[in-house]
Amino acid sequence: MRLRRKPEAKQMLMEHPLVFTPTDETKGEMRGKWRSLFPHPEHPLYVELGTGKGQFLAKASGLRPDINWIGVERIEEPLLQAVRKGEATQNANLRYIWADVEGLTELFAPGEVDRIYLHFSDPWPKKRHTKRRLTHRRFLDLYKQVLAPTGDLILKTDSVSLFDFSLEEFREQGWEVIELSRDLHHSPYAGNNITTEYEDKFSSRGMPIHYVRVAPHQTQPAGTEN
Ligand SMILES: C[S@@+](CC[C@H](N)C(=O)[O-])C[C@H]1O[C@@H](n2cnc3c(N)ncnc32)[C@H](O)[C@@H]1O
Repeated sequence: MRLRRKPEAKQMLMEHPLVFTPTDETKGEMRGKWRSLFPHPEHPLYVELGTGKGQFLAKASGLRPDINWIGVERIEEPLLQAVRKGEATQNANLRYIWADVEGLTELFAPGEVDRIYLHFSDPWPKKRHTKRRLTHRRFLDLYKQVLAPTGDLILKTDSVSLFDFSLEEFREQGWEVIELSRDLHHSPYAGNNITTEYEDKFSSRGMPIHYVRVAPHQTQPAGTEN
């Protein structure tokens, strides 16, 4: 069913047990405590930013029960579809946050997140919209704050321009490239890949999927240099 009526989606999300909807009063409530929601709080926490309709999380939470999964999405209609998919799995290692990535550091404590996924983020091709791209350095700064010292970030996109822009931002901000492919589905990283809705759409049209795994440069504590 396609849900067209925003007020209805809003109400459902606000009442849904799998969804956290931060308000000015509650936005910091779960900060540093996300893992306590899950049956296995000792498991790593992986967060997908811009979850859309949620295919990735529904699949990933089943294939990787050793991970606690959270999806962040700001638009209510796709999020509600994602939540319904997640609910149908009955996987207990899955939650959603209805929020904008802009508020990430109010939602998560420093070092709380082990991996961030950016899947087919809006490319914002116009130059005047550069700052809205989720790999702009102002977002990288937020990601660096919430990622654990061993944490990393995975970006997948069909957009060559967003990919090139992102690589440049990672480089200039001192992030380390660990894995990279401009044709993920025909690369050594294809085996572990879990596809998203957008990924299926673009790859069915023969478009290559661009993939990179990066980690923020960690400054060594004083006195530990070799
Ligand atoms: C192009 S869709 C991709 C959806 C999904 N990740 C996929 O690969 O199928 C991008 C999604 O990111 C969400 N998004 C974009 N900017 C966001 C932000 N600042 N905070 C939260 N969600 C955002 C959009 O609402 C949209 O649902």
